[in-house]
Amino acid sequence: MNIYENKVIDESRQGEVLVMDKPVGEGKKMFLESYGCAMNFSDSEIVASILADKGYSSTTDFHEADLILLNTCAIRDNAEQRVRGRLKEYNIAKRKNPKLMIGVLGCMAERLKSKLLEEEKIVDIVVGPDAYRDLPNLIESVEGGQKAVNVLLSLEETYADISPVRLDSNGVTAFISITRGCDNMCSFCVVPFTRGRERSRDPESIVNEAKNLFEQGYREVTLLGQNVDSYLWANGKAKKELSDDERGQAFTFANLLESVANVSPDLRVRFSTSNPQDMTDDVLHMIAKHENICNYVHLPVQSGNTEMLTRMNRGYSREKYLERIAAINSIIPGAGISTDIITGFCGETEQEYADTLSLMSEVKFDFAYMFAYSERPGTMAEKKYKDDVPEALKKTRLQTVIALQQKHSAERTKQGVGKVHRVLVEGVSKKSDERLYGRNSQNTVVVFPRQNFKKGDYVNVLAKECTLATLIGEVV
Ligand code: SAH
Ligand code: F3S
Repeated sequence: MNIYENKVIDESRQGEVLVMDKPVGEGKKMFLESYGCAMNFSDSEIVASILADKGYSSTTDFHEADLILLNTCAIRDNAEQRVRGRLKEYNIAKRKNPKLMIGVLGCMAERLKSKLLEEEKIVDIVVGPDAYRDLPNLIESVEGGQKAVNVLLSLEETYADISPVRLDSNGVTAFISITRGCDNMCSFCVVPFTRGRERSRDPESIVNEAKNLFEQGYREVTLLGQNVDSYLWANGKAKKELSDDERGQAFTFANLLESVANVSPDLRVRFSTSNPQDMTDDVLHMIAKHENICNYVHLPVQSGNTEMLTRMNRGYSREKYLERIAAINSIIPGAGISTDIITGFCGETEQEYADTLSLMSEVKFDFAYMFAYSERPGTMAEKKYKDDVPEALKKTRLQTVIALQQKHSAERTKQGVGKVHRVLVEGVSKKSDERLYGRNSQNTVVVFPRQNFKKGDYVNVLAKECTLATLIGEVV
């Protein structure tokens, strides 16, 4: 993805229609729409691969589809409401074409299970994130006149052997998932329930996927996991089965970063998401060691107050988080740092909220994804705490946080002016055909005159001016 001039992983994707780069098969047509995080986007590429094997091709027009698939997000209530709104639109198409099949995939499918069939009458198929291999069978059941559900979560599934069909790709940057699920149990978060237990993918299949991408002309891969720092491979053995000795011998995230970086010096490596309780100095030293591992860390803080972080079950304090930031700044000077912030979580006092603002000012993040707390059914927070910050207050706090972050982003971007940046060209600027855009190592977007450069080139750009989040310059 990354075809847009925004920061790498856009959590706020509002449903992107995805098409296969190279249409395969003359068979039935699927219309695939992806909501939510980069992991979902990456999963959509696995789904496309599974269906392409069955002869499916893709379309951007749902009116001509035989199968509509929505890969959904459940992280906040508004993500689910958006999907429900979309299903209403498909209802019209279904009335015209009763044979049209509609499938709901991903986290919302997993959360609601067969209840979704009762609530949304037009849905035929409900599939959770670990059951995509079963899609062809489920489709067959629907063709036979039945509704079909598979929401089994798995302890092993990593889709390691499936080579994803790249969707809507710029041919330069791609995602590779390295872990699935999450064991962290942050009290506000529904992910451990919708994506199941954490498991790591065989490093050989990850490195091979990176090699294949490089051979096809890709120049940047982003390694994806809910918590990349907890990646650990010991020949497929689950983490908790390992003896201390085996654990010491196991292949870590730092090892994985190095193996992927070694694919080629011309393949850039990014990763997301880092976790403050698990991010080790080893990982930071590995980033510093390899020129082609980008100097950029996405380290969600959520709140700047230790009591709040304890209620959130995040496993670190304000001090520990700031210590990790200091480690990044000392081991990788000038690194880009971004974060996630939640306002209005259960019991958030004025002081706790003020601590978030002060932490932001102390760190000065390059970028942040910021959200008002949305209570999710089944989470620890829903069971244990009262969602007692009034919606309006959550929103005002959010607005203040956003305004402060914009100020910081602008300051950070400005620091790049007057410097030379190594930029990987991703495409033509949205605003002008005469300009190309790409990113520097710190993940800041850089725009410059097109000349004879093309996608996939590395260029050195001297930044001469900037907007809030974009550097503008000339190739030197
Ligand atoms: N695994 C990542 C993030 C997963 S979800 C991590 O380590 O943090 C992405 C972001 O959504 C989270 O970082 C959090 O800021 C936000 N989020 C998760 N649950 C939420 C909820 N119930 N309400 C509001 N924001 C939430
Ligand atoms: Fe969610 Fe925390 Fe995992 S935010 S995805 S439970 S690290």
